[in-house]
Amino acid sequence: MTAVQQETGRVADVVAQAGRRRTFAVISHPDAGKSTLTEALALHAAAIEQAGAVHGKAGRRGVASDWMEMERDRGISITSSVLRFEFGDTLLNLLDTPGHADFSEDTYRVLAAVDAAIMLLDSAKGLEAQTLKLFDVCRHRGIPVITFVNKWDRPGREPLELLDEVEQRIGLHPAPLNWPVGVAGDFRGLIDRASGAYTRYRRTPGGATRAIEETLPAERAAAEEGDAWHTAQEELALIAEIGADLDPEAYRAGICTPVLFGAALPNFGVRDLLEAVRALAPAPMPRTGADGRERPVDGPFSGQVFKVQAGMDRAHRDRLAFIRVCSGRFERGMTVVHEPTGRPLVTKYAQTVFGRDRSTLDVAYPGDVIGLPNAAGLTVGDTVYVKTPIAYPPIPSFAPEHFMVARVRDNGRAKQFRRGIDQLGAEGAVQVLRSDVRGDQAPVLAAVGPLQFEVVQHRMEEEFGAPVELTRLDYTTARVTDQASLDALAGRRGVEVLTRALDGTLLAVFSDKWRLRSIEREHPGITLTPLLAAG
Ligand code: G4P
Repeated sequence: MTAVQQETGRVADVVAQAGRRRTFAVISHPDAGKSTLTEALALHAAAIEQAGAVHGKAGRRGVASDWMEMERDRGISITSSVLRFEFGDTLLNLLDTPGHADFSEDTYRVLAAVDAAIMLLDSAKGLEAQTLKLFDVCRHRGIPVITFVNKWDRPGREPLELLDEVEQRIGLHPAPLNWPVGVAGDFRGLIDRASGAYTRYRRTPGGATRAIEETLPAERAAAEEGDAWHTAQEELALIAEIGADLDPEAYRAGICTPVLFGAALPNFGVRDLLEAVRALAPAPMPRTGADGRERPVDGPFSGQVFKVQAGMDRAHRDRLAFIRVCSGRFERGMTVVHEPTGRPLVTKYAQTVFGRDRSTLDVAYPGDVIGLPNAAGLTVGDTVYVKTPIAYPPIPSFAPEHFMVARVRDNGRAKQFRRGIDQLGAEGAVQVLRSDVRGDQAPVLAAVGPLQFEVVQHRMEEEFGAPVELTRLDYTTARVTDQASLDALAGRRGVEVLTRALDGTLLAVFSDKWRLRSIEREHPGITLTPLLAAG
């Protein structure tokens, strides 16, 4: 085979493989059913035998994740994992996100690595605070959103009212793909809007496995479902009249959201959701580097670190960098360049991470996630590439609102303390801020939510053997500043300038907004740029 033929074959392979991948995340408010849906999706795609093998909370569904004791104790998911499953000819990469608001920064990083999102709503609650916040991130990043209205088997709100809420509060035109027969709580089945087919569901005992589905012709459905059928037909006529039809282009452009109704727990409507992801969610697309140049999907390999996680479980105490493949074909063992340092990086130990299991990964394509263990020096946002250099834009940090000074309890553990704090800062578990005045042994930790400090305390003790003492600082607000603005900020009460260890950014922190405003008034030219708001 000639070199040209080889290259043509390589490009065709990458294009075909990228084209069959869908990389997405589920965004929701805690308790809307994200863990349940994740399991149901994987179950439907036959990736796992029975719901519960992936997450499970506090023993609820058998196999609990033991990534962290804290997760078990609190029944919340802090770390995220990647699920990968085949669905027909499509390969789905589902990037899991922690549900608690205090870890929204982590969720933001995961959203930097996906091409689409499922917005999961509780049928009784509609749009909730955390859903709105995460939706904003999707909008900001241009991530198209499919809406899944969950828990239809329980009493909830009217479907039309929920569609209205989506339209009014987030400005997306809802386009229902299916329609429920029977109100929430008396759920009979779903009508597929495109084909008109009616699928009736029956729960399986315990609800943990796939529901029993039955397709009925319209006449029989009308006779057997009675009023519920007629109401659904009226509602369908109404939405057809207002033109709530799906326009795939408008979905990809973030103007419209396809909506599906269902129930994750008894596995109702989950297959429809998978079909929608397959048919509508965009495959990996070319990404633009910080210099504005685009890297084609079939260009040489490149990827971006979106997460660094250590101590994920007892069996793997190492540090794992999660890299989203942006272009080209990755082969284990290939030497890639770490863009920020220009240093070569060996990828002999590349892994896939499925839930808490890991296995060797030999090849990966755009949309896939590679786990690199013990890749020292890899930090969230870093680009890796081969051949033509590329640097993807950094993943922005959220504005911290909680600040603590960390000190080691036992001075004999100072080295471990330094190492641990550096590591947690590099992972982005918390932002580490330093200044000459405070010195190395008393860094300031900055967080979006206070639970992040608990994670730090726990991990410093368990993983690094350096228990820490945290003292609260009275700051509430942070702004990015620069050298030229330092004079105006120096010597003011309730104001301090610190350097973020991760990227050298200068952060000015303020005890309250009044102080910030008064400085801005006094020095109109000063640089005090807001960070991305978490709430
Ligand atoms: P999260 O990850 O978004 O926080 O939510 P999770 O899946 O843990 O679901 C939250 C609760 O909602 C769970 O009940 C779960 O069983 C329930 N749930 C999820 N989907 C559905 C659904 O489609 N129908 C119904 N009826 N319930 C659903 P829980 O009481 O908090 O937990 P458990 O006591 O059942 O363990």
